[in-house]
Amino acid sequence: MTSESSNPAGGIKLTDTAIIGRTMSEYSAMFSLAAHDMEGENILDFAAGCSSFCAEANAMGYKVTAADRIYGSNHETIESAFSRDMDVVMGQMPELMHMYRWDGPFKNLGDLIDQRKRAFSAFIRDFRAYGDLRYVHCRLPHTGFEDKRFTLCLISHFLFLYEHILDIRFHVDVLSEALRIASKEVRVFPLVNFKGRQASILSPVMEELNARGYYCHIRKTDYEFVKNGNEMLVVSTRV
Ligand SMILES: C[S@@+](CC[C@H](N)C(=O)[O-])C[C@H]1O[C@@H](n2cnc3c(N)ncnc32)[C@H](O)[C@@H]1O
Repeated sequence: MTSESSNPAGGIKLTDTAIIGRTMSEYSAMFSLAAHDMEGENILDFAAGCSSFCAEANAMGYKVTAADRIYGSNHETIESAFSRDMDVVMGQMPELMHMYRWDGPFKNLGDLIDQRKRAFSAFIRDFRAYGDLRYVHCRLPHTGFEDKRFTLCLISHFLFLYEHILDIRFHVDVLSEALRIASKEVRVFPLVNFKGRQASILSPVMEELNARGYYCHIRKTDYEFVKNGNEMLVVSTRV
């Protein structure tokens, strides 16, 4: 049996969002964010989880705040959720290698695991050092941030990817909240689901945002790990 046929539906199977995070180098590529793009911005990372973007960016002098529901837990609980989810996700990868590109951010499975662990170490160190200053507990779609508190909001590996558990209404509510608190724009990556296909809810979500007066467009980025997962959605207030 090939890995394709033993996994006919394709893609990683998860019943909840994974507690696994990405590095700043991945964020920069996913969101087409060069260093000069971040200067002077006040960035919010929505559903940031255990990504090291906030830690690394602040260490370089940029202004980044992270928001996630896991920040209501202590570091031991987050650590055990990370190791549980690494086992769940990485345990499925050998059967799914054909769905990913291994000439991009990762050379092989070992490299992927190492980078995820490195991201987690940098995150947890920063979380323990800066706690509430940088890591804000929230349960989306609601946050306690005031209007236009940030300039740019980034949403990585949360919306669209998990369309099998998060519905259209939730997507629109999360994006509307992001647009309330980010004065310039909201960027979302990726736009594919776990099967590597463009999320079926992408069009209805964009239509609803357009109807609410927001301007949506899709941009290609330089990041591609899941094959075909190389686009981001940019949403801003219509000018
Ligand atoms: C796959 S992780 C993505 C982490 C990070 N953005 C990245 O790409 O590295 C998804 C995150 O969504 C968070 N999450 C799921 N539902 C949430 C909710 N309702 N409110 C806030 N965070 C949520 C989870 O706790 C998890 O950290």
